[in-house]
Amino acid sequence: MTKNILITGGAGFIGSHVVRRFVNNYPNYKIYNLDALTYAGNLENLKDIEMKENYTFIKGNICDIDLVDKIFQENNIDTVIHLAAESHVDRSISDPLAFVQTNVIGTATLLNSARKLWNNQYEGKLFYHVSTDEVYGSLGETGFFYETTAYDPRSPYSASKAGSDHLVMAFYHTYHLPIVISNCSNNYGPHHFPEKLIPLSINNIIQNKPLPIYGKGENVRDWLYVIDHADAIDTILHKGKMGETYNIGGHNEWTNIELIRLLCKIMDEKLGREKGSNEKLITFVTDRAGHDLRYAIDATKLKEELGWTPSLQFEEGLNKTIDWYLENSEWLKKVTNGEYLKYYEKQYHQNEN
Ligand code: NAD
Ligand code: TYD
Repeated sequence: MTKNILITGGAGFIGSHVVRRFVNNYPNYKIYNLDALTYAGNLENLKDIEMKENYTFIKGNICDIDLVDKIFQENNIDTVIHLAAESHVDRSISDPLAFVQTNVIGTATLLNSARKLWNNQYEGKLFYHVSTDEVYGSLGETGFFYETTAYDPRSPYSASKAGSDHLVMAFYHTYHLPIVISNCSNNYGPHHFPEKLIPLSINNIIQNKPLPIYGKGENVRDWLYVIDHADAIDTILHKGKMGETYNIGGHNEWTNIELIRLLCKIMDEKLGREKGSNEKLITFVTDRAGHDLRYAIDATKLKEELGWTPSLQFEEGLNKTIDWYLENSEWLKKVTNGEYLKYYEKQYHQNEN
């Protein structure tokens, strides 16, 4: 079977793993990667597959109606895997409108092009929307997010993703557009931009810089290796039911402080530093505004209905991730220049207690 797949945000962290997987595993599928190359998009993430015959990169914005229509028409797009987004909560606190623009307007633009150009010919078509568990809000010390959990977003990022999820569902109910949504927990792994907790901490440990922990470090996140997320997306794309939502997660909860202590310990060994020396870099800083206490996914539906489970244990994934950053210092240097340094200065300067 052949498919013409438009992947949006394919130069970003998760998108690049999804693009690589589909280009390599499905030579019969044509993959079109539409990405605006914001600070978070990096074609270096795709160097190994950029020459493949079934891969095309298109630089552009998902909010550009004419461009999106043209891509659908010229390439006979039958499948969309939509990952393009503004994705960092802290940036959404300082610039919420950028999140509404890309995450809400951009998603609406893609949905509307699919609706217009598929023109009720929905056989063999699919709009797959990649979303986050953050739309469910914040858990207390117990309980999990289920697919049926009511949306309760609390940051401009999660609210804009919730808005996009609602639009996707609205297009399903109103126009019968064939859609599927997945809501995944926090990802980690190679090519993760070093503004998020794990890659930022790895980068700072390498450079012997302070490790900023918000509040008391008691917030809990549920971590999944990015390649397992790409694997789940592949499973859902091929086996998921139209109009359904699937939660993706690995039952792997860590408080931020315990996670960073483990990271420090592993990196003491890898960098040949004295035991306990990296932990001394931990610095508690002012808490994030509206900081969600705990996320935890129940992925039973995905396991029972589609047979997906994560492949990696956390320590194995964390070791692989650290090794990748240690072996790819050039990548780190390139993405931490200019614009990122300005962001870092603004975000953390005068913030350390
Ligand atoms: P990322 O920030 O690393 O990458 C986003 C990509 O989208 C970048 O390549 C960027 O250039 C591109 N982009 C941004 N605005 C665009 C626009 N207007 N037009 C075209 N391209 C644009 O994000 P990520 O962490 O890889 O997340 C990808 C998707 O997965 C997002 O939708 C996010 O909400 C979702 N998600 C992320 C996580 C996580 O832990 N990172 C977890 C669950 C779901
Ligand atoms: P992050 O990686 O930004 O993902 P998200 O906010 O989408 O879950 O943050 C993960 C957790 O780490 C979150 O509880 C906020 C916290 N955090 C810090 O303590 N310090 C930091 O410098 C960053 C970026 C995050």
